[in-house]
Amino acid sequence: MKHALLPALLRPLSRKPAPLFVLDTHAGAGRHDLAAEPARRTGEAANGIARLLDNTPAALEDYVTLVKDWGQKDQGRYPGSPALIRALLRPADQLTCCEAHPEDCAALRALFRRDPQVSVHQRDAWEALKALLPPKQKRGLILIDPPYEDPREFERLSQGLTTAHARFRTGVFAAWYPVKHRAPVRAFFASLNLPDMIAVELMLREPLDPARLNGCGLLIVNPPFGFAESARLILDALLSRLGDREAGAAAAIVRLTHE
Ligand SMILES: C[S@@+](CC[C@H](N)C(=O)[O-])C[C@H]1O[C@@H](n2cnc3c(N)ncnc32)[C@H](O)[C@@H]1O
Repeated sequence: MKHALLPALLRPLSRKPAPLFVLDTHAGAGRHDLAAEPARRTGEAANGIARLLDNTPAALEDYVTLVKDWGQKDQGRYPGSPALIRALLRPADQLTCCEAHPEDCAALRALFRRDPQVSVHQRDAWEALKALLPPKQKRGLILIDPPYEDPREFERLSQGLTTAHARFRTGVFAAWYPVKHRAPVRAFFASLNLPDMIAVELMLREPLDPARLNGCGLLIVNPPFGFAESARLILDALLSRLGDREAGAAAAIVRLTHE
């Protein structure tokens, strides 16, 4: 879901000629081998991207084309967020990736080692939000995609977003979050005191069992012009391919605060 929405975040920002800065705070290893055993076991690809590759709905065409183009260059692998973002950059735009895990960071460095538009840091995301903002370009996107292995992740995200927004008020921030049940998500929203926020959510079922990942969302601060309209079409297309409406699959776009 977050990957399918990346073109809707970056294309509108690319309409103005001034260069863009993109920060991917939890960048990962950059690419995924979907044929490898861990990916096969979870069925993530079979129940996800594999269902979008044929007769692709128009709203997903941009994203699926990026995935197919990457797969052709990289033996069928699936691109992570840094690779998708890189494919959306124009020649004067810059991407900075932070990844704390040494092996993942090394893999990411190797992927972009000859690319002057991408820099890769082995660095803590929350520290990077303070150190790297505001960017000299004065415009850009900050993608925050934490793993939520720590129970305090929502709290850290709320603090991180608040600090980062104070440093870069015009930046577009997109933060991914899991929806296991509603209470932690409501508390997260209530903890944020920022203008111009929307939440985009894709639910696979009603969030009744908190032990399961029932859906996910992307919180956007300063959504680009036209983003909510594009996101609606993208979510509907994802639902039509991935969701079972009878099981409670649904999409929502909620405005949390005004400009
Ligand atoms: C959900 S994965 C990122 C996936 C990636 N954004 C993508 O879409 O392809 C989260 C990543 O964050 C890294 N990570 C966890 N805690 C971190 C921290 N405090 N700072 C930077 N990276 C961190 C993990 O090693 C993991 O690779």
